[in-house]
Amino acid sequence: MNATAPHGPRGRRLPPHGAVVVTGASSGLGRECALELESRGFQVLAGVRREEDGEKLLTEARYGRLRHALIDITDEASVRASAELVADRYGGLRGLVNNAGICVPGPLECIDGDQLRHQLDVNLVGHLSMIRAHLPLLRRSNGRIVNVTSGLGKTAVPFLGAYSVAQFAKEALSDALRRELAPSGVRVSIVAPGAILTPIWSKVSQAGERALGDAPPAVADLYRSALQAFLEGNAQLAMASRTTPEDFARTVLRALTDVRPRARYWAGADARRAALLARLLPDPLLDRRFRGITALVGAPGPVGRTPVP
Ligand SMILES: NC(=O)c1ccc[n+]([C@@H]2O[C@H](COP(=O)([O-])OP(=O)(O)OC[C@H]3O[C@@H](n4cnc5c(N)ncnc54)[C@H](OP(=O)(O)O)[C@@H]3O)[C@@H](O)[C@H]2O)c1
Repeated sequence: MNATAPHGPRGRRLPPHGAVVVTGASSGLGRECALELESRGFQVLAGVRREEDGEKLLTEARYGRLRHALIDITDEASVRASAELVADRYGGLRGLVNNAGICVPGPLECIDGDQLRHQLDVNLVGHLSMIRAHLPLLRRSNGRIVNVTSGLGKTAVPFLGAYSVAQFAKEALSDALRRELAPSGVRVSIVAPGAILTPIWSKVSQAGERALGDAPPAVADLYRSALQAFLEGNAQLAMASRTTPEDFARTVLRALTDVRPRARYWAGADARRAALLARLLPDPLLDRRFRGITALVGAPGPVGRTPVP
């Protein structure tokens, strides 16, 4: 890991070679990231949950350096199998990109224990399972862990409470790991994307409708207008976002190749702004920024667009 390669004015980069595992590569940011890392020179093991998603990805990979594996990060046997495959095929691991994720939306009053556990299983516990299983391989290669969080890793947004809980926790997991693993040479970075148009947004809208459907009618009625306006506003924000999956993939590449990787990278000005506001603004001012979202709680019908910071 001593060789460095010049790469732009901001600093020097390590050459992009060795093996990298990307979880959640069937769609959206993970898919783009797997293809970008392959194109730059890494051997990529793309984690998908369905064989057909892996085969589709293979047809899109152009350099013969991408393979896929069935990895469900909430299934310990599948996580162990991934580590065994990496050991057999590559011998070591330069990078583990913990990208897989879901978003369980809805007012917290509508989120039951099973839904919260599922959110945390995928966005937190599953990542720690992947990290634990792959750490011996990462140590062998002075490898890097890249944990994908979100602009909501520092700001808890109404109606995305369960997701925010998971993202805050993943930030804490990353900070603790970075400090614990520093002596072993394994570096840990967070990549926090802002809003980027991917399939996650339509999944969020559908899941939000389901959350209302599962709640007791009186509770659902209380939140219906506000939640629907919120989900609609969010979808519009994602569609209007100027940050692309390619921006995200290039940010992950930086985290994997910067000679001195940062603790945190942002992909999107909105994610950076959310973190900054969370640090600078006192709680009453932050609360005020979110009042628009909850203004319709108790209102009879959905109206207009609700701004999200
Ligand atoms: N897009 C954004 O605006 C945005 C903003 C902030 C943060 N993020 C974060 O970025 C990451 C990627 O999101 P995305 O926008 O690309 O969403 P996406 O298109 O919905 O992709 C999510 C990926 O995670 C996979 N996944 C879900 N549960 C899994 C499990 N148990 N085991 C393994 N893989 C699993 C999905 O696989 P299946 O296809 O098999 O379900 C899919 O490949 C997520 O962690 C998300 O929280 C996204």
